[in-house]
Amino acid sequence: MKRTLISASPEFIGKKVKLAGWVNVRRDHGKLIFIDLRDRSGMVQAVVIPDKKEAYEISKSIRNEYAIELKGLIKNRPGGQDKDKSSMGKIEIEAEEIKILSPVEGELAFDVSQKELNVNLSTLLDNRHLSLRNKKINGIFKVYSQILESYAAVMRENGFREIKTPKIVNAATEGGANFFKRKYFKRDAYLAQSPQFYKQAGVGAFERVFEIGSVFRAEPHFTTRHVNEYTGLDAEMGFIENFSDIMDQLTVTMKRIIKDVKENCREELAEYGSEIFVPDNFPKIKLTEALEILKKEYGKETESVEIDPEGERLISEWAKKTYNSDFIFLTHYSSSARPFYTMPSADPQYTESFDLIFKGMEIATGGQRIHNYHQLMENIKKHRLNPEDFKDYLEIFKLGMPPHGGWGLGSERIAQGILGLQSIKEAILFPRDVKRLTP
Ligand code: 4AD
Repeated sequence: MKRTLISASPEFIGKKVKLAGWVNVRRDHGKLIFIDLRDRSGMVQAVVIPDKKEAYEISKSIRNEYAIELKGLIKNRPGGQDKDKSSMGKIEIEAEEIKILSPVEGELAFDVSQKELNVNLSTLLDNRHLSLRNKKINGIFKVYSQILESYAAVMRENGFREIKTPKIVNAATEGGANFFKRKYFKRDAYLAQSPQFYKQAGVGAFERVFEIGSVFRAEPHFTTRHVNEYTGLDAEMGFIENFSDIMDQLTVTMKRIIKDVKENCREELAEYGSEIFVPDNFPKIKLTEALEILKKEYGKETESVEIDPEGERLISEWAKKTYNSDFIFLTHYSSSARPFYTMPSADPQYTESFDLIFKGMEIATGGQRIHNYHQLMENIKKHRLNPEDFKDYLEIFKLGMPPHGGWGLGSERIAQGILGLQSIKEAILFPRDVKRLTP
């Protein structure tokens, strides 16, 4: 007999099927044993009656999270709909044969059948193999998977070619000190801080490229939105008129991701009480204007021309209030705050760059890049960097490089924002932070 998925079982009322999955919970009521069986598609209640002697005996030894196989008759569940709103609630399976595929060794660290796990983040992550079996936590990764799928789909539909670039590199791309240095045979190497240089090389050959790839940052801080390894959703596009073209493409991209998540992850969004407001066009304001608004509306003074996490949260609040938008672009960051490859504005104090803020948090950084070899050379020197260190990178610009730009978008921060998660780590299967290298 072939295995039927739990989600397909309502089609088999009155028929015998074979199901397989994990025991979410076993409950004993008088002489009856109930097993909530969970597979990748859903959950169903199995009833084991004492008449089915062999199955009944096996059931008595079954505990939560055992992997089992079960054959039985699919029946309408009396009063089921009132008890459980999901389609699974309508049916149950009367077990006739049960086989234990794999038991649980030792005690479970906590009970994952609970709707809400009352466990702190550290315990949750220490026992990741277990916590991922909780329905609500499991749902985060359905949303996350949808984000990846939609990103790739919308980029391809817009003519971007998917590329994969090296993560072991010979120079620190974005500058600064937040790189991991590694031994590479007899030389030193670094873990890639961003695919920036390679995606620009990609523009030179393919015009439009995107990458979904690991990014490594040796940032020593403990925040709710930083980890030391994350998955970047990068893109780079050639022959642009100006950096508005990039923001427009990113708007199309984000709208598509949100639309797909709303359509395909209704249950998960409901579980997290998530609401997202997406206007046709995302508001765009200059960073200097944003700082003025923060001062006027929220009495927030900033000493530098930078915005801090609290500022991002407040400007997001303002965008929601003013434009009913959970997204806002902040533009024209100062040249001192941006990497050397960023295109300066007409007023060279500023750059043709932006950050995209979603639900109070920066999720993307992007902008136009310098495409002229000589201008780039000058800017490297202006940033007090050594052109020798960028020898290979500079070659790209000797070969008819079109005006271009792109973005780096944090995949986990999108999930964090959509679901309103306290920490980015909740949206990462096995997060890596300053203290955590396991499991
Ligand atoms: O702002 P970042 O550092 O920009 C770049 O990497 C540029 N090369 C992008 C570009 O194309 N100009 O990173 C981009 C995004 C951030 O907005 C954030 O969403 C995510 O990557 N990110 C992190 N996510 C988790 N943990 C960290 N430590 C992150 N650092 C950046």
